[in-house]
Formats: sequence, C-alpha cells, structure tokens
Amino acid sequence: MRSSVSNNNVRTILLVGASRGLGHAMAAEFLKRGWNIIGTVRGTARTELHDLADEHNGRVEIASLDITQPDEIEALHGRLSGRSVDMLFVNAGTANNNREETIAQVSTEEFVRVMITNALSPMRVIEGLQGLVPSDGLIGVMSSGQGSISNNEKGGHEVYRGTKAALNMHMRSYAARHAEDPRALVLMAPGWIRTALGGPKAPFSLEETVPKIVSTLLSHQGKPGLQYVDREGKTVPW
Ligand SMILES: NC(=O)c1ccc[n+]([C@@H]2O[C@H](COP(=O)([O-])OP(=O)(O)OC[C@H]3O[C@@H](n4cnc5c(N)ncnc54)[C@H](OP(=O)(O)O)[C@@H]3O)[C@@H](O)[C@H]2O)c1
Repeated sequence: MRSSVSNNNVRTILLVGASRGLGHAMAAEFLKRGWNIIGTVRGTARTELHDLADEHNGRVEIASLDITQPDEIEALHGRLSGRSVDMLFVNAGTANNNREETIAQVSTEEFVRVMITNALSPMRVIEGLQGLVPSDGLIGVMSSGQGSISNNEKGGHEVYRGTKAALNMHMRSYAARHAEDPRALVLMAPGWIRTALGGPKAPFSLEETVPKIVSTLLSHQGKPGLQYVDREGKTVPW
C-alpha cells in the first residue's frame, strides 16, 4: 500500500483497474465528488493513478492487483481486512488482439486469456472482496453493451462479446445466490469510448462519458438487486 486513506467520514471506492483509461478517469471523477479512492494497478510500475495520488494528498491509496492471480486477490483482502468500502467497482478488462477475428479464427490460447480476464477474474475479485462492502454499499463491474445477447443483431467483436455476455451471466448467478442481499449490484455498459481498448474511432471521449458513468453508479446506491444499465442509467436488454 502506498499511503493510507484516513478520513472515516468520507466515502471510499475500491476501484479495481485504475491505472489508465476509464478506471483512471473514474478515479479522478470520484475524487471531484469528494470520495476517497483505493485504486489498484498491476505490478509496481508508476501509472497515471500515481500522478492522481500525488495531486490529492492522502486521498488515493494504491494497491497492486492482477485480477487473474487469485493469490493477489487474497493478499489484497488481507491488507484491507477490518476496513470497509462504500463501493467496490471492477473496471479491469481486456480485448483480443485482433478484434475482428471470429470465434472460428481465434486461437484457444487467446480465447482463454480474454475469457479469464473479462469473465472469471472480475467474479473472483467480487467473490473475494465483497465482504468489504456494507449492506448499504454497491458492487459494480464494467460490462459492455456488447455483452447484450438480445442486442447482438449485427455480430462483430465475437470473442469480446462472448466474454462480456459470460460476465453478465455470472453476475446474474451471483445475484440469484445473494437474493436476500440488500446491496446494489450494477453491470455498467459505458458506451464506445476513446481509450487504448476503445481505439481512436470511438465516438465518445472520457470527459463526456465518465461523469455520467459515475452519476449513474451513485444513483444506484441503496437500491438492492442487479441492474444492467448504460451510462445514462437506462436498462440494457440482457
Ligand atoms: N473503451 C470502451 O469503449 C469500452 C466499452 C465498453 C466496455 N469497456 C470496458 O471498460 C473497462 C476499461 O476499459 P478501457 O477502455 O479503459 O481500456 P484500457 O484503457 O485498455 O484499460 C484497461 C484497464 O484494465 C486493466 N487491466 C487489464 N487486465 C488486467 C488484469 N489482468 N489485472 C488488473 N488490471 C487489468 C489495465 O491495467 P494495465 O494498465 O496494467 O494494463 C487498465 O487499467 C474494460 O473492462 C472494458 O472492457 C470499455
């Protein structure tokens, strides 16, 4: 851990995958809204989150987590034991290197890599760290509109779509298993946004989308049960 987020009256988000892109921009937006951040990055290299931590003295705590490594999830749980966070949000995700390859073309190795990162690992993080979130808290995960089965009428991005659809299904199973849980559960479809993953052709910037993503998450606090929503808060068809 880099430093300690100390003020107990300030709300805290544990944001998993906050080194760059959407996760980093979400961290900056939550800071603007008065929240403190526990943000995770992979490894020990300096990231954009470290710059944010330097600019916000004592309000950003940085922890190391590769979500595909169960021992790292366990270690983070150990380090945070005895503490609670108002929101746990798993943003970390990836895409196959050749986005346009079909399910017929993708190598088994690449399919497994993307599926483990986007579907299995976020669920392992949620299963491993959900105990940090109190009954009025929120557990969220970054899905995608491309994870919608019923909206998939044009195809494309077959591998990535499959991983986010699998993530959605696993969250529904989690919600069913925790049917009496009063916590809010959110699958976020943020829209197509210019990041390393979204690429330069994406129609939306981080600046015009991330404040909406954060507002929608905040609006779901205190609402039990699982919702699959876009950044405007509109329900996405499963
Ligand atoms: N951009 C879009 O248009 C769009 C649309 C829908 C959904 N999404 C979803 O939004 C999330 C963020 O995407 P982005 O666009 O911001 O992409 P990005 O700029 O490529 O950032 C990906 C983030 O995920 C982290 N990450 C990847 N694999 C990880 C792992 N195994 N363990 C821990 N962290 C890992 C990366 O950390 P490192 O810096 O260590 O690599 C980075 O912080 C993803 O889940 C993505 O699927 C994006």
